[in-house]
Amino acid sequence: MSERVGIGSATSRIDGIAKVTGRACYAAEHTADDLLHGVIVSSAIAKGRIRRLDDKAARAVPGVIEVITHRNRPHIAWFSKSYHDDVAPPGSPFRALYDDRVHFSAQPIALVVAKTFEAARYAASLIDVQYDASGFNTSFAAAQADRFMPRRKRSGYIPHKNRGDAVKALQEAPIKVGGEYHLPTHHHNPMEMHAATVLWNGDGSITVYDKTQGPQNVQRYLAQIFGFSTDQVRVLNPYVGGAFGSALRPQYHVYLATLAAKMLERSVRVVMTRQQMFTHVHRPEALHTIALGSDKEGRLLAIRQQATTATSRFENYMETVVNWGMMNYACSNAEADYAIAPVDTYTPSDMRAPGAATGMTLFEIAIDELAYACQLDPLDLRLVNYSDKDAMHDTEFTSKALREAYAAGAERFGWRGRSQEARSMRDGKELIGWGVATGMWDAMFSQTSASARLTQDGRLEISSASSDIGTGTYTVMAQVAADTLGLPLDHIDVRLGDSSLPTAPVEGGSWGAASTGAAVHLAVESLADKLIELVNKLDDKPLGQLTRAEAIFENGALAFKKNSASRIGLGELLKRGQVEEIRTDETAKPGWRDLWSQIRKSRNTHSAIFAEVKVDEELGVVRLTRIVIAVAAGRIINPKTARSQILGGVVMGIGMALHEETLMDTRFGRFMNHSYAEYHIPAHADIPDIEVIFVDEPDPVVTPLGVKGLGEIGIVGTAAAIANAIHHATGRRVRSLPITIDKLLEDCPTLS
Ligand code: MOS
Repeated sequence: MSERVGIGSATSRIDGIAKVTGRACYAAEHTADDLLHGVIVSSAIAKGRIRRLDDKAARAVPGVIEVITHRNRPHIAWFSKSYHDDVAPPGSPFRALYDDRVHFSAQPIALVVAKTFEAARYAASLIDVQYDASGFNTSFAAAQADRFMPRRKRSGYIPHKNRGDAVKALQEAPIKVGGEYHLPTHHHNPMEMHAATVLWNGDGSITVYDKTQGPQNVQRYLAQIFGFSTDQVRVLNPYVGGAFGSALRPQYHVYLATLAAKMLERSVRVVMTRQQMFTHVHRPEALHTIALGSDKEGRLLAIRQQATTATSRFENYMETVVNWGMMNYACSNAEADYAIAPVDTYTPSDMRAPGAATGMTLFEIAIDELAYACQLDPLDLRLVNYSDKDAMHDTEFTSKALREAYAAGAERFGWRGRSQEARSMRDGKELIGWGVATGMWDAMFSQTSASARLTQDGRLEISSASSDIGTGTYTVMAQVAADTLGLPLDHIDVRLGDSSLPTAPVEGGSWGAASTGAAVHLAVESLADKLIELVNKLDDKPLGQLTRAEAIFENGALAFKKNSASRIGLGELLKRGQVEEIRTDETAKPGWRDLWSQIRKSRNTHSAIFAEVKVDEELGVVRLTRIVIAVAAGRIINPKTARSQILGGVVMGIGMALHEETLMDTRFGRFMNHSYAEYHIPAHADIPDIEVIFVDEPDPVVTPLGVKGLGEIGIVGTAAAIANAIHHATGRRVRSLPITIDKLLEDCPTLS
């Protein structure tokens, strides 16, 4: 009997060996004969026009083939609409080397192409540019005056719904808390730089290895802009070294590499530098005003949340920011106001749990403040205001095991041993603080196709154009297939990350496991049906006349459930049926089950996060010592890869709480700390013991397999649990993240 590998087993990654041995190739590792290297030249000004660009010295460098600028670039699409990708917000997408205009600092203004990377990089340093600079604003504070809500909304953006009279209720509430809360710009900072290797095939077609979360999104984008048919563009992204949303939209590296390949009819690779990784998408800076009112027992009477997030001057990037608190808590009066404010940077973009990671986190800090104002335990306050329904839409959830998550997390953490008062727990010179927060994210489902193909050697191949962005998709898809067909994992090949495979959306929003999983499940189920048909057609009827209900697939064989001694290997079955292979293609779409489309329900994941910090009373140094997170996210396909997803999200939440912040120099309009040395992401030494609990949450409605998705929930609320723990330790309420020493010691040289 082989080890159980189907849904629910904690299998190791099937792509793990390829990754740790270096066999797994990333976008910049693919190569071609006579590959050329492109190096991007970035603008020195934030806004204006290029007056003169002298490339004489660059062209004289041995090995340089071409310097591409707006002056000599080949023809590209003219309509702004041609540059829209599947997930573009409303506006006019940025077009590199289109004309002499500069829209943001470090915008690409030239691509130097040479036989070697070194020659291209050196030549790029010799490009001499003169500009006509114009006025700009990159101060988010100054942009507040221009905040607005565009008429045309981004697809997927969910507007909030007010209820009751929050203004009046707040005025009359016996207990009131709130204030201004701030979040800085964040950059995604995946380990792998954005890169593309474009192979010029010589027959008018190109093969593109790109760092992307959506190969078919990039395929359509490049075809539209450069005048290829989609058949002529194949985009592959079999491995992605982290993205977190930064690779949802096609970025300018792949555009420039394709532009050069088309112009020179050669294969070209372009890799961004770490500095250039700070010149495109980012999580927008955010300013919130939150006010909460309650009675003396902590029952919420009023919720008000106003938020502004940054966008660019050329696109209107919006995220769902103010809805989370209004959905999560029972309260008759709730009102919000959300708008965006334009600055002269590149357009912000989705970054892990966009909108919720910020809006819910800040809201959960305000909830903690309310608990103190009511002299209630912060967990009890949350339970007092617990809502079984989605309180904003007034709809049922398909499932919501948040109560169970609070209980399981509190138990494990030992929360009930906490003393309520701030500064009441210590360990020598260190103040101890315990904080709690709630997390919430969507359980989305997107139309996705997959195919399954069984061959005479008994091997199964599963294919979909979905991407494994490091989350474990290869592994969990193999498990979904194994669950139905009873094959060992080493008999299953999973192909993902290739635009030529069955249609799939960009991999994001935590919908991958649910959506691709559903498509794979359908494909292998119909393969199972075909195998039963085939066995019933064999002359000697080895399993009698078998129905689907009587059939069992195990250990690579099809058997009769009641008498598993009569069995036939799947490869053997194909051979005896004289069938080379069986292939099935299926598409899973929302509403494919009647039940699912008829009942409108809210679909969300929830979490409860408990954090412990120790703060040096003299120095203000915060040490994070413990985190327990309990997650309610439906059915877990693989507890091991699922746990890794949550760990990654929590680590990013730790970064948000204590480290991460991109700083803008508003005089130059440029992000200043554009390197790992100066943009601090948590290092191993910053990460404490993290315990992940999955609470049982059976949900037959949310998606066909009951799977909700896990990529993002781990970050939501984590920073609030830490901020609340710091308050508990020190009595200091910091409403601006990250919580650095200077903020903790603001009016006092020590905490004592
Ligand atoms: Mo996610 S921010 O949709 O990659």
